[in-house]
Amino acid sequence: MITEPAMPGDKLRIGVLASGSGSNLQSIIDRCADGSLAATIAVVISNVPGAGALERARKAGIPTSCIDHKKFADRQAFDREVVAALQIAGVELVVLAGFMRIISDVFLEAYPQQIINIHPALLPAFPGLHVQKKALEYGAKFAGCTVHFVDGGVDTGPIIIQAAVPVLDSDTEATLAAKILKEEHRIYPRAIQLIAEKRLKLVGRRVVVDPPLELAATAQHNPALD
Ligand code: GAR
Repeated sequence: MITEPAMPGDKLRIGVLASGSGSNLQSIIDRCADGSLAATIAVVISNVPGAGALERARKAGIPTSCIDHKKFADRQAFDREVVAALQIAGVELVVLAGFMRIISDVFLEAYPQQIINIHPALLPAFPGLHVQKKALEYGAKFAGCTVHFVDGGVDTGPIIIQAAVPVLDSDTEATLAAKILKEEHRIYPRAIQLIAEKRLKLVGRRVVVDPPLELAATAQHNPALD
């Protein structure tokens, strides 16, 4: 966790890692541009040549690096290269945005409690892959997304923020994924802003916002009550 007090005007330097189309990256670019997120994207790194995320970054004038994991003997060697690129760019917070690689100890030791991830499910339910399909098949009445700190497990780190969406009888995997993605684009920039403001404290594995945010603490029901 970042604890040094920020100087007025300082912007958090983030590095975004993405393997896919980069719509979450785009939401972060857009919030930086409109001033609601006080961060600078120092570099965008992808392990997939031709990933849409790289193109989005180039269009926004952000430095990019493509580090193809297939060219490395093992996970640690790949991670060492990625960490080196992040450090050269002066990255303080690593933002995994659809980065489909498991992070090794090399990475965790270089950026302790300074790596966050977004996952398209309400953790701890449905870690791993194809989780919108799993939520639908399971019959969950709410699905959603989670931003969390990354630890040594798969989608197990302390939870920063979640958004819940109702699962409707009419939902397909595609409609559910789209609803969840829309919320991802709202909560990821928000989580980064809370870190930029140094408002997150880890108490055990609970992430506490200080000072707290107002919350309409009303329950939602699906199906609706009478
Ligand atoms: C997002 O739904 C993100 O939550 C998911 O990949 C998608 C990337 O979309 N990440 C994971 O499943 C990580 N386990 P994007 O490239 O359009 O941001």
